[in-house]
Amino acid sequence: MCPQTKSVGRLPSDHFDNGFYGKDILSVSQFDKTNLDYIFGVAHEMRVLVERFGSADLLQGKILSNLFYEPSTRTSSSFMAAMLRLGGQVIPINNVQYSSVTKGESLPDTVRTLESYSDVIVIRHPEVGSAEIAARYAQVPIINAGDGIGEHPTQALLDMFTILEDLQTLNGLRVAMVGDLKFGRTVHSLTKLLSNYNVELSFVSPPILQMPSDVLDVVKQRKIPFTITESAHDVISDVDVLYVTRVQKERFADLAEYERLKDFYVVDQELLTKAKEKMIVMHPLPRVNEISYTVDDDPRAAYFRQMRNGMYIRMALLAAVLGKA
Ligand code: NCD
Repeated sequence: MCPQTKSVGRLPSDHFDNGFYGKDILSVSQFDKTNLDYIFGVAHEMRVLVERFGSADLLQGKILSNLFYEPSTRTSSSFMAAMLRLGGQVIPINNVQYSSVTKGESLPDTVRTLESYSDVIVIRHPEVGSAEIAARYAQVPIINAGDGIGEHPTQALLDMFTILEDLQTLNGLRVAMVGDLKFGRTVHSLTKLLSNYNVELSFVSPPILQMPSDVLDVVKQRKIPFTITESAHDVISDVDVLYVTRVQKERFADLAEYERLKDFYVVDQELLTKAKEKMIVMHPLPRVNEISYTVDDDPRAAYFRQMRNGMYIRMALLAAVLGKA
C-alpha cells in the first residue's frame, strides 16, 4: 500500500522527502527497515528533546483531532501530549457519545467535519478497516490508533522502539507473545513489524485464542522461525522479550467464555525466576490480572517505559507526517 500524499499546508521549509509527509499511517505494512530506522531515530531525538527542554515549537500552529470511538487512556493522552509538547493544539473527541455520532452522523461526515478544523486526525474505531475508510474521505493524514481487532500500528512502533532502547537491537531476538492473540490488535501489528527483522517468534495462547492465519501467513512468507504453544513455561527460559496481553473482554460474544479464559496466564515472580537476567516483560496496557503487581519493581518490567516511549514515537510520527522532521 502506498497512500497518496495529502494536504498539510505545505511550506517551502517542510521536509517533503521523509517518506511520511502528508501520508496516512494505517498499517504496519507501510513500514520497512529503512523508514523504521528513520522513525526510531526521530523518536530518540524527541526523547532527548523532552528530557532536556520539555517542549519545542516544531508544530506550532498545527491542530490534531483525536477521534476515539473506543476507550483509551494511553493512546489518546500520549497523542495529545505529543502534539502539545511540539507546540501544537488538540481537538479531543474522546467521548463520541457527546458528539454528533450519537445523532447518527456517519464516519465519513465526522471525518470531513474534523478535517476542516485540523491538519491531522488520529482515529480509534471498533471496526476493522475503519481507519482506511476515514482515510479515503479525508484530505488530511489519518493515523490509525486501533481499528477493532485489526491493527494498532503506532503501538507496534512504540513496542519496537522500546525493545531497541532496552536491548539495543532488534536482530537475533527471541520474542514470545502471550495471551489473547486472536483479538489483540497490538500483537497482530507487532508480529508483522517484527517479521522485518531476524527474530524467532513464539505464540503462547489457549487454542481458541490463537494468532489469526493471515498474520501467521506474513511470518511464513518472511521465513521467520516460529513456534505455537499453550504454556508460558515452554518458552520462559529462552526469551529476550515476553510480550503479555490482556484477554479482550469486549470482543467476546460469550462472556462465560471470557470468564473461563481471563486468568489463563498470570506472569509473576515465580515464572520470572526461570527467565534470563537480561530480558524484558512488555504489555501494551491496560493490564487486568495477567501480570502480577509484584513484577513491577523488577528491572525487567518494561511496560511503564513502553508507555512513556509511546509519546516519543507519536511525536516523531506527527512531526514526520506534517513535514517537520
Ligand atoms: C491496547 C489496545 O487498545 O489495543 N491498548 C493500548 O492502546 N495501549 C491493548 C488493550 O486494550 O488490551
